[in-house]
Amino acid sequence: MSLLANLFRSSIGRKFLMAVSGLILTGFAFGHLAGNLQIFSHPDRINGYAYFLQSLGPVLWLVRLVLLGAVGLHVWAAVALTLESKAARGPSDYGVHKWLAATIASRTMRISGLVVLAFVIYHILHFTVGLAGTEYYKGNIAEVILGHDVREFGFPLASKGTAVHDVYSMIFIGFASPLVAGFYILATGLLAVHLWHGADSMFQTLGLRSSKWSCCLRKAVALLALGYFIGNLAIPGAILSGLAKPAEGTYAAKVLSTR
Ligand code: HEM
Repeated sequence: MSLLANLFRSSIGRKFLMAVSGLILTGFAFGHLAGNLQIFSHPDRINGYAYFLQSLGPVLWLVRLVLLGAVGLHVWAAVALTLESKAARGPSDYGVHKWLAATIASRTMRISGLVVLAFVIYHILHFTVGLAGTEYYKGNIAEVILGHDVREFGFPLASKGTAVHDVYSMIFIGFASPLVAGFYILATGLLAVHLWHGADSMFQTLGLRSSKWSCCLRKAVALLALGYFIGNLAIPGAILSGLAKPAEGTYAAKVLSTR
């Protein structure tokens, strides 16, 4: 019990909670990107994959709860650590000196973190709830019939003939708007910077910044963050620029051909 209390009360404990929750969210972010990149394949692939995730029922809700808990913990630890470092700097550091005293990295982390949080709320309203003005939801098309079986690494996700939510059309129609696509690009760019700086400060907490591995580790993290951004940029970027067009016969192809 006192170990748990210490985790929440001590500075190092809060940094640990920040790192663990950050790692959980990073795992989700990369997994989600890998799933989303299926947009460049046959429409049945991403629709079958989304159908499988939705069909997980209680497991999906458990994962959502863990993610929500991780977001809550991450934000709480960030606020607590910021207040703590402000208090440690003392009253003389407030006012004009406040801005100068905060490092560029920590300020970037706060701004990028806030934008990403706002983005995730918008994103859930946009794609999961359908409240943020997607024509897809207004079009009343909620189902497509899968043309063939969908398997991932041999594992069956959805079988031929199943009626599924048309995530494929939703993404194409959503990103046909420059404003929406632009916001996704900005937010995922900031998320990549956030991951990069976050991992760097985690290495500092773990004492890895001065180890002989530090240079390779930091380069690997920078490359991963860049790869993450390029992967995320590819989806709205390709759709908005017309490089990726919706497959013939899909609801998205019908809607976008009238524009
Ligand atoms: C190009 C970028 C992205 C695309 C195309 C995309 C696509 C989607 C889609 C289609 C859904 C809804 C799935 C469904 O209703 O079946 C979804 C849900 C979600 N996305 Fe994204 N996403 C993107 C970026 C992100 C990013 C950067 C984050 C945050 C790190 C994120 C977090 C979420 C969350 C939390 C959900 C809700 C999952 C749930 O239903 O519990 N997404 N995304």
